[in-house]
Amino acid sequence: MKIGEFHGPNRKLVGRTIWHFDVVESTNETAKEMLEADLEEGLVIWADRQAAGRGRQGRAWASPKGGLYASTILRPKEPHAWVLGLLMGMPVVKALRHFGVFAGLKYPNDAVYQNRKIAGILSEGVYRGDTYHVVVGIGVNTNVDLDKFPPDVQASATTLKREVNLFVANDEFLDYLLNQMDDVYSRYLNTRIEFLLKDYRGQCTTIGKRVSATTSKGTITGRAYDIATNGALVIMDDANAKHEFVEGMLKVLV
Ligand code: BTN
Repeated sequence: MKIGEFHGPNRKLVGRTIWHFDVVESTNETAKEMLEADLEEGLVIWADRQAAGRGRQGRAWASPKGGLYASTILRPKEPHAWVLGLLMGMPVVKALRHFGVFAGLKYPNDAVYQNRKIAGILSEGVYRGDTYHVVVGIGVNTNVDLDKFPPDVQASATTLKREVNLFVANDEFLDYLLNQMDDVYSRYLNTRIEFLLKDYRGQCTTIGKRVSATTSKGTITGRAYDIATNGALVIMDDANAKHEFVEGMLKVLV
């Protein structure tokens, strides 16, 4: 149920309007159900809890009360869902750092602190008629205790509450996050994507590390080397051959 509406009139596009729900299945699904060509670009669907939160690669995203779950509707001219999902990792990490967790950005867009995941992004591109929309869904483990997560998640996750001795309200976190996302999106609209991908590359802690990447085609082991213009991770294998990796399982080895 919708329980509130907020406005950020100083923002350019992202987060000028925010619809607040108590519980939804998934904010990405709610956003997709509402998509119409005349829907305000930058509209944010924010929920206190998700009954069926979704992660990348068909995984579930545990979404207990206390965490932050929000999806933003964008309408870029190009089908850039994947690249926008990468770029929006930067505002998430910036917000976490602002509120006291010195998180890093693991490819593609996981915010990680001391090898534990604290936030994730699911960016989906969808056509409605001829209009292409991107729904950027962000989940941040803000005010949650680790024991609220399923046991397999507990071992590899952390939360803002666990790492920082200061209460940060979700509306405060969201407010800061949306300001940063708005900046990144306006740069996306006004600059060449290569420049933003260079920024992303500089912030992505996976670059330079030894990784093993598994896809349906097999496993490549080598050094994470660059970000291609399509947003793929370029991996240089031990025979100096370059491979592009997008979705699959990525392990950082050192
Ligand atoms: C991942 O790292 O696997 C991505 C997690 C994305 C979770 C967010 S929470 C808000 C939005 N709604 C969803 O169902 N998923 C995303």
